[in-house]
Amino acid sequence: MYASNQSVSDEPAPNTPERIAALENQLAEMQKLMLQLEKMSTVGVLASSITHEFNNILTTVINYAKMGLRHRDEATRDKAFDKILAAGQRAAKITTGMLSYARNRPESREMHRLSQLVEDVLVLVEKDLQKHRVSLVKNFAADAYADVNPNQLQQILLNLIINARQAMEQGGTLTITVDIDRDGSWAIVSVKDTGSGIPSDQLPKIFDAFYTTKKADEQGQGGTGLGLAFCRQIIEAHRGRIRVDSRVGEGTSFTLKLPLGKANDFISSKAG
Ligand SMILES: Nc1ncnc2c1ncn2[C@@H]1O[C@H](COP(=O)(O)OP(=O)(O)O)[C@@H](O)[C@H]1O
Ligand SMILES: [Mg+2]
Repeated sequence: MYASNQSVSDEPAPNTPERIAALENQLAEMQKLMLQLEKMSTVGVLASSITHEFNNILTTVINYAKMGLRHRDEATRDKAFDKILAAGQRAAKITTGMLSYARNRPESREMHRLSQLVEDVLVLVEKDLQKHRVSLVKNFAADAYADVNPNQLQQILLNLIINARQAMEQGGTLTITVDIDRDGSWAIVSVKDTGSGIPSDQLPKIFDAFYTTKKADEQGQGGTGLGLAFCRQIIEAHRGRIRVDSRVGEGTSFTLKLPLGKANDFISSKAG
């Protein structure tokens, strides 16, 4: 067998085009796996607050069903049905959001209203924010549209929001802004917290893959260090920019800039 001979050789394998292609394939596969890993880590962070929320929804459904059975007058029953319907719809919104987030959709872009994408993500994190005494300010200053892969943009937003929440251990304020820049060529989304801030010697490293300052907690949930690396990669693939401003002890703000789309492109892409 030649294989054993080759393995003792000190010579590196020659960089033939076949080998390079094989390595590139491996790299692409690894990147896909890492993307999935980062997603699953986010799902892990949200699992407990979402489970609690489902418990609350079930309690609502059970109590109003009991009330409707006990009080047979029309007004009480209508009220009970309304409450049960609203609770069911909320549960459906959360599961739909979670499933669509966990799915790995192929590259496909469409014109999207950015405030709507933000709202879709907030359904998943609202309870987590409440639990950690973080109040939410939505500042949708302009109706901005951009040509994006919604699944990827959701992933970016979730990472930025969870990073922000994790930086506000004592609670604080999370402000999410959607706007259009002054000369009208960029859509802007920013996620700002009043948390710990990032020391200036760490700032240059935060976008590096595997750079994390989060140690595993008792639920084994540390950081992957992949979130911001993917954020940057995804935003640059969308021909956008991501920037960070931070002050230790005051907080951090991440700003995304995406080429602005027009609402009428949105209408035609939905129709066509
Ligand atoms: N809003 C923020 N406030 C303070 N530090 C942050 C914030 N966002 C990111 N960081 C820092 O950047 C690091 C990398 O973030 P990220 O790539 O999302 O990985 P992870 O969240 O898995 O640690 C974090 O570990 C943290 O040190
Ligand atoms: Mg992160």
